[in-house]
Amino acid sequence: MTVRFSGLTAVNGLSFSVQRGEVLTLMGPNGAGKTTAFNAIGGFVPMAQGHVAFKDQPITGLRPAQIAALGIRRTFQNNGILREMSVLENVLTGLELDTPSTFWGCVTRWPASDRAERAATGRARAMLDKMGIADLADRPAGDLSFGQQRLVEIARAMVAGAELIMLDEPAVGLSPGDRLHLGESLRDLAAEGIAILLVEHVQDLVMAVSDQVLVLNYGEKIAQCPPGEIRNNKHVLEVYLGHA
Ligand SMILES: Nc1ncnc2c1ncn2[C@@H]1O[C@H](COP(=O)(O)OP(=O)(O)OP(=O)(O)O)[C@@H](O)[C@H]1O
Ligand SMILES: [Mg+2]
Repeated sequence: MTVRFSGLTAVNGLSFSVQRGEVLTLMGPNGAGKTTAFNAIGGFVPMAQGHVAFKDQPITGLRPAQIAALGIRRTFQNNGILREMSVLENVLTGLELDTPSTFWGCVTRWPASDRAERAATGRARAMLDKMGIADLADRPAGDLSFGQQRLVEIARAMVAGAELIMLDEPAVGLSPGDRLHLGESLRDLAAEGIAILLVEHVQDLVMAVSDQVLVLNYGEKIAQCPPGEIRNNKHVLEVYLGHA
């Protein structure tokens, strides 16, 4: 794929694939094009060239909500959770694609949809359980630690049955303990057959969870290998340390 913003080529001829059960981590300096690659996959920015396929079906040109409905979900680099709402309510918004508040609007307008509400709540609680934070369901999300909030975001991304999730720097600001928990949760999701695309700088998490690491520089892929080999890669050393 190639993505251009007026004069700037943010992603240049990038090609990769991620399989079920695999964690592929995109790394690279600020501005390398990592978030833009996520945006292109999710339909948030158009590609100048290239295409994206999901489960052998082309998804190029679909709208973000259509792509999300197929099972590709993401978290955003700077988009937090809804602090005033409970953890459970935050996760429930993941079941509503476009407007987070509509779900509850429907529930209040139509008491007849009790059963649908119970089913949704059950799914959300099960997802929280999977992330190891079921006991926090009724707490205001703003009371949680950063790490717990990140797990809530992932639960929200996953609750509608995602098969590919894209996580943009989920470990920023997390304590070592929270990073460990996050890493374990990501490996658990992968073990269930979810495909995970990660953008991450935090090294211990990258090393712990990635099957493959892909390094971008100025929008181009300069390396792709298992995480254990990345430190020996000449191109990567040049980019990060300025020498080979
Ligand atoms: N919507 C946009 N319009 C114009 N330029 C953009 C847009 N989004 C990104 N860019 C530019 O594209 C390049 C790649 O940005 P991108 O956000 O993908 O980098 P990144 O690798 O995610 O960086 P970071 O590590 O800082 O998050 C940058 O030069 C950025 O300024
Ligand atoms: Mg980014």
